[in-house]
Amino acid sequence: MNNSRVNVAILGTQGYSGLVLANLLINHPFANLVLVFSRDPQWNLAEDLPLAENLNIPHYTLDVVDETISLFDVIFLATPIEASSQWVPYFIKQGKVVIDLSGAYRLSSEIPDASYGLSPFNTQLGKFISNPGCYATCALMALLPLLKHKLIDPNDIIIDAKSGVTGAGRQGKKELLFGEMVGNFYPYKISQHQHIPEIEKYLQVFSECQATVDMVTHLLPVKQGISMTLYLKSDNPTYEGIEQAFSDAYQDYPFVKTKSLEKNQNTIEKTFMGLNKIVATPYTHIAYKIVKQRIYLVATLDNLYKGAASQAIENFNQLYQLPLTAGLIPGGGA
Ligand SMILES: NC(=O)c1ccc[n+]([C@@H]2O[C@H](COP(=O)([O-])OP(=O)(O)OC[C@H]3O[C@@H](n4cnc5c(N)ncnc54)[C@H](OP(=O)(O)O)[C@@H]3O)[C@@H](O)[C@H]2O)c1
Repeated sequence: MNNSRVNVAILGTQGYSGLVLANLLINHPFANLVLVFSRDPQWNLAEDLPLAENLNIPHYTLDVVDETISLFDVIFLATPIEASSQWVPYFIKQGKVVIDLSGAYRLSSEIPDASYGLSPFNTQLGKFISNPGCYATCALMALLPLLKHKLIDPNDIIIDAKSGVTGAGRQGKKELLFGEMVGNFYPYKISQHQHIPEIEKYLQVFSECQATVDMVTHLLPVKQGISMTLYLKSDNPTYEGIEQAFSDAYQDYPFVKTKSLEKNQNTIEKTFMGLNKIVATPYTHIAYKIVKQRIYLVATLDNLYKGAASQAIENFNQLYQLPLTAGLIPGGGA
């Protein structure tokens, strides 16, 4: 055990984002994953994460949270809304730093000093951090720079979004079985996804611009990754203007890559916009193209990484004033 490391724990470890978090935290140079919680007493971390085989990270069920609470300073909640609604107030009361991956408190003002951890836009993090939703992260990363530069009509934003099936969690739902998903593709929650109000709220918070968003979400027959095409109206769009907006937002931020589709677009389509370029990475890719009065953006990220666990690690790093890349890229903590 290294004293310069922060002692952390995870609740909801057996879920998809909990497991990615565990993997990232085990490899984090300034975190010490002291224990994990799961409701299932039969389960152990190495069963799902072979890397943990010889690490002997203890696993506890939720009835011993009280007894083990002094062992960690930070708790990551990778749990559904119902569970986070119960556990967030408890851990805050115990004085813990809480990073909640659920949507329980993203839209509510119930918890004083709650922060919305959209990295790099939120630089004022407190001890309770609501990690943004996956679609919301992707949309906000693409839209905020252009809205801040007033390059787009805030009331004409159309988003065509597709996600891999891990976005729906690891519970055994019939419609998510391999036999149902393979070779299949369909829209769901048309213009009703719960991330629409989240996107609108945080466009306003971070760009001070009131915007309305229309979004249709789809399920892709792939494990992980979000691909989002955004159709935006602009009076007089130029590639230089877009480039400047992205540069202002991301020049000091290591996890966004942008590309113009003005030239060499075939190569870029194949090499830059594919999900396989961002899966299992903390990166967001954003490509842009202008056609007359429209700006098209194509944004991709991994729902389990930038859309969940790696963004939670970015928030942890920022809160503890560590290098933002610590635990996320090789040598990131150096
Ligand atoms: N999947 C994504 O792409 C994604 C992206 C961004 C945010 N999120 C959010 O992150 C959270 C976790 O998502 P996920 O996809 O990883 O979910 P998941 O795969 O369904 O796993 C959730 C885990 O939470 C624990 N859990 C479930 N019900 C519980 C309860 N009543 N009390 C205590 N623990 C409970 C379980 O862990 P144990 O079995 O170990 O107890 C379960 O495996 C959700 O709120 C989700 O909306 C998910």
